[in-house]
Amino acid sequence: MRPLIFAANWKMHCGPTEARAFLDAFLVEHAPAPGREVWFFAPAVSVATVAAGLRGRAAVRTGVQNVYWEQTGAFTGETSVPMAADAGATAALVGHSERRHVFGETIEETGRKVRAVLAGGLIPVLCVGEKLDERERGDTIAVVEGQLDAVRGLDPQALSRLVIAYEPVWAIGTGRNATPHDAAEVHAAIRHHLAAVGAPADRVPILYGGSVKPGNATELVAEAEIDGVLVGGASLDPASWFAIVQAGRD
Ligand code: PGA
Repeated sequence: MRPLIFAANWKMHCGPTEARAFLDAFLVEHAPAPGREVWFFAPAVSVATVAAGLRGRAAVRTGVQNVYWEQTGAFTGETSVPMAADAGATAALVGHSERRHVFGETIEETGRKVRAVLAGGLIPVLCVGEKLDERERGDTIAVVEGQLDAVRGLDPQALSRLVIAYEPVWAIGTGRNATPHDAAEVHAAIRHHLAAVGAPADRVPILYGGSVKPGNATELVAEAEIDGVLVGGASLDPASWFAIVQAGRD
């Protein structure tokens, strides 16, 4: 049974003071439920604050939004996996579309990052997704499979620790989202491809991201192939985030 994961990606928002205030507001309302997890991908400078705020809580996790693959050294501005772990992160986003398309991160680099995250004992959340022109050309599956090449060659044990986030680039921050049916179709293709590269695909959670809001979260997580959501804009307000993590709860 795969857990249902609600992951907030705060992007470049919420420094330590705001992060603390967010958690104070959110945690008063939040009650954990079996099989459901709430993850927070904070900016690196807020990871320690978020980890401290979540300490002792059930079914929550702190993550970092990006890491570098080297452990230490002359890499000004970068955060290594051991440093993120020391600050309290137990998961890391890898290959978010903004990393790929704003900062030019390549598939080869995402592969190195996934390996570094696994080696450091954290959970990698590998983000994949096509751009609008790629979708319009009918290349969605080919693009996503190409991005999944980052995990090719990992052993099944390592592959079993992966989480994938499918985030169509045209849906991120645009208010346009894939229909649950369209997303589920891509998720099924991702699972098929993971199995082909030797992953225990039934165990790998695949999240959907891209303009997830309180109004569409329930129908998304109702799809059997959608194991949760990765949420940017709508995760920045405690009330809207609370509504999303309630999705599908009676
Ligand atoms: P959005 O961002 O929810 O604001 O579309 C999602 C993401 O980039 O992870």
